[in-house]
Amino acid sequence: MSKVDVVLGTFYGDEGKGKIIDYLSENADASIRCSGGNNAGHTINVNGKKFAFHLIPSGILNSNTKAIIGNGVVIDPKVLIEEIEELKKNGYSVDNLYISDKAHIIMPYHIMMDKLQEELRAENKIGTTARGIGPAYSDKYERSGIRVEDFISDKFESIAKENIAKKNKIFKMYQKEELNAEETIEQYKKYAQYLKKYVVDSVDMLHNLLEENKNIVCEGAQATLLDIDFGNYPFVTSSNPTIGGVMTGTGIGPKYIGEVYGVLKAYSSKVGEGMYITEQDNEIGDTIRELGHEYGTTTKRPRRCGWLDLVALKYAARLNGLTGLAINHVDTIGKLDKIKLCVAYEYEGQRTMRFSTNNEYLKKCVPVYEEFDGNFGDISNIKRREDLPENAKKYLDRIEEIVNVPIKFIGTGADRNDMIIVD
Ligand code: GDP
Ligand code: IMO
Ligand code: MG
Repeated sequence: MSKVDVVLGTFYGDEGKGKIIDYLSENADASIRCSGGNNAGHTINVNGKKFAFHLIPSGILNSNTKAIIGNGVVIDPKVLIEEIEELKKNGYSVDNLYISDKAHIIMPYHIMMDKLQEELRAENKIGTTARGIGPAYSDKYERSGIRVEDFISDKFESIAKENIAKKNKIFKMYQKEELNAEETIEQYKKYAQYLKKYVVDSVDMLHNLLEENKNIVCEGAQATLLDIDFGNYPFVTSSNPTIGGVMTGTGIGPKYIGEVYGVLKAYSSKVGEGMYITEQDNEIGDTIRELGHEYGTTTKRPRRCGWLDLVALKYAARLNGLTGLAINHVDTIGKLDKIKLCVAYEYEGQRTMRFSTNNEYLKKCVPVYEEFDGNFGDISNIKRREDLPENAKKYLDRIEEIVNVPIKFIGTGADRNDMIIVD
């Protein structure tokens, strides 16, 4: 029986998960997304052409890889259809796409509610992507969500009608424009008709593939510190992007989990509000943002940038049981003269490796930095770790030493081939 190799974000998202998944998918029979929705933006650069996937698993570019949207995902059908059409326009067949019958649908009222909730939070806003993610997951757990199997069935109209009527009462109360039920239902029936042919029983499909000894990779979205349980609550997303979400979001037990790769950048970034103690809200952060092109794939917002935080990384390694690290943007950090690495926190005068998402605790923590020399030069053509410049080796060795998880992938540029695969 084969196992599922997993790719997860270790920090606040946008670590380059898409690129690692694209590489692993080359030899995979299936690649599955397990959580989140189109709040995700996973970029892959192929021969100068940039693909940004929000819902479709990044494995889709390999036509031999089945690309499955798992049951844990929330799907905006409009966005999914746009993505399918964009791929077709670029000459890709989308015949290898499969959608779980148990995934949930994002309706327009979820997006309207997301925006309304942010408005009501005022100065305490989370900085969501405004894609309706939180409200869609809330409805799922409240048991009024619309699953894909209902979306493509005759039941859709009556469920949607009832839901829209309820949501409109809320919009009315806040003097917001209401949703036109008839128009919405008609439009969404068309979307359902379009997507119907891709719908499968993904749990059965996945287990059949496992029994056939097929190679499967799971594409995490978002990241550990955005996890609803383990992240920096309330500045989190509404799902579990950590390892547990892989199991509930696909329908596999722990014995089917193989490698668990934690993706990080050689620095760090975050979009949205909340604590981020290695943030460099200064010239250094601005320089990293420009060198790494750190602007959101989904919302185009400038990302907050700072140094790599090994206390947080160790937390991600523990929580997810990481078996390997994938470090991207080593080329980017290597453009600086001096690099700082947060190797511990100082809490009430004591050095500690304890990470907690408790804001009161974090506020009192002061990062302890070690300084490294940069100026790595052009490393994009290097294919072996031992051929990297000494400065890069020292930096990577120290990360590995402190986190105690082996580095398996080293990102040396944005292109899909700009990567060192460590034996
Ligand atoms: P994801 O959401 O984790 O898949 O990451 P995003 O795609 O949102 O953001 C990662 C960004 O970094 C994208 O623009 C990638 O093209 C880019 N990228 C990934 N790895 C590297 C790398 O090693 N070097 C450089 N320069 N860019 C990279
Ligand atoms: P990928 O998969 C970066 C952030 C949002 C916001 C918070 C809640 O590309 O790494 P939400 O819309 O989910 O309710 O917003 O989570 N966020 C992400 N940040 N990368 C992502 O995905 C993200 N998905 C959500 O910016 O702070
Ligand atoms: Mg992203």
